[in-house]
Amino acid sequence: MALLKSTKVFVCLGNITPSLGVMSARNSSSWWGGVQMGPPDPILGVTEAFKRDTNPKKMNLGVGAYRDDQGKPFVLSCVRKAEALIAAKQLDKEYLAIGGLGEFTKACAQLALGADNEVLKSGRNITVQTISGTGSLRIGANFLSRFHGGSRDVYLPKPSWGNHTPIFRDAGMQLKAYRYYDPSTCGFDFNGALEDISKIPEQSVILLHACAHNPTGVDPRPEQWKEISDIVKKRNLLVFFDMAYQGFASGDIDRDAWAVRYFIEQGHNIVLSQSFAKNMGLYGERVGGFSVVCKDNEEAKRVESQLKILIRPIYSNPPMNGARIATTILNTPDLRALWLEEVHGMANRIIKMREQLAAGLKKNGSTHNWQHVIDQIGMFCFTGLKPEQVERITKEFSVYMTKDGRISMAGVTSGNVEYLAEAIHAVSK
Ligand SMILES: Cc1ncc(COP(=O)(O)O)c(C=O)c1O
Repeated sequence: MALLKSTKVFVCLGNITPSLGVMSARNSSSWWGGVQMGPPDPILGVTEAFKRDTNPKKMNLGVGAYRDDQGKPFVLSCVRKAEALIAAKQLDKEYLAIGGLGEFTKACAQLALGADNEVLKSGRNITVQTISGTGSLRIGANFLSRFHGGSRDVYLPKPSWGNHTPIFRDAGMQLKAYRYYDPSTCGFDFNGALEDISKIPEQSVILLHACAHNPTGVDPRPEQWKEISDIVKKRNLLVFFDMAYQGFASGDIDRDAWAVRYFIEQGHNIVLSQSFAKNMGLYGERVGGFSVVCKDNEEAKRVESQLKILIRPIYSNPPMNGARIATTILNTPDLRALWLEEVHGMANRIIKMREQLAAGLKKNGSTHNWQHVIDQIGMFCFTGLKPEQVERITKEFSVYMTKDGRISMAGVTSGNVEYLAEAIHAVSK
């Protein structure tokens, strides 16, 4: 006790703000008496509430994970086959390199940029394996925070995926926003976006969702991407592409990568985050990539060295299993063909559910225009339901979704789409 009393405790609060739950160092019998209870995660909190509900008709449309038409988690056959091939090889479990599995990072960059992209041929990119898309964004944010001389400001679309803000904030970046979604049309606010982007201070970072924008499901059309590229170039902005849904949006991996490839063609030296969670269903395997497109090979080597220095004290090196699965699929022609078919199948099932939901709403007598349910792209649909309508649909119909009215179309099936249409109509008429 005497020893405890005389011990001085130095607490460096640094960037930690009271909102994170740290009040002050306390001299009490507990080390953590000053830690306040934090709020539940807005998305995972929905799942918790869903689990407690005993209604047999309950639907969880909160979380963004694909379900088959029986509402069950889906493991792709190409993944099962790749796992069998890997198991048969009896490979060792040695550490990977800091930047991950070389064959994986090569295949990952080729998938995004296209195998014959000039950037890959001239070796002016560096791609490291990351802990899925989230880990990739965080490594990218840390890299920008440490090395982007231009500005600490990162501009996110409004709204953006909920995790973007804490990822960039925790890395020491300053969050700003540009208009993206127009609630009056449930579509892309193209003019608002252009106007806001044209005022972003030079050398800031702009985050763009490459396809299947989360949470709105609203993507720019190619001609709109072209204008965005022009204006971003005029403003001399550093582009950070987040591509978490390649293939999942249209069912076509090349089509979904169009914006990324177009920007590179136009001379933007982008940074890019990729995830294999959705398009290969490798959610819990945590497979992703982070790429930096550089001026030349020499610059890429310097960037690579610093990415390794960043990664090493965080997790040393990434996990190997998921990267082996993804690599086996991408590099084995039969499995790659099967994968492309399966990605197409997932995207198509979602597109079908969108059509059935819109038709169901009409059948129920809804007089609203639900065209946006069909037009929006990818896993999510921004229904346009207001928070009080979301509250009602959860309470009265046990349909769970995030407060902003976003539903994961992946949780909609032939068996429950009619019930969902009925429920949405009941709270929105
Ligand atoms: C826009 C966006 N970026 C990145 C991610 C990262 O996902 P993960 O870390 O599971 O790859 C997600 C997942 O929902 C997402 O929607």
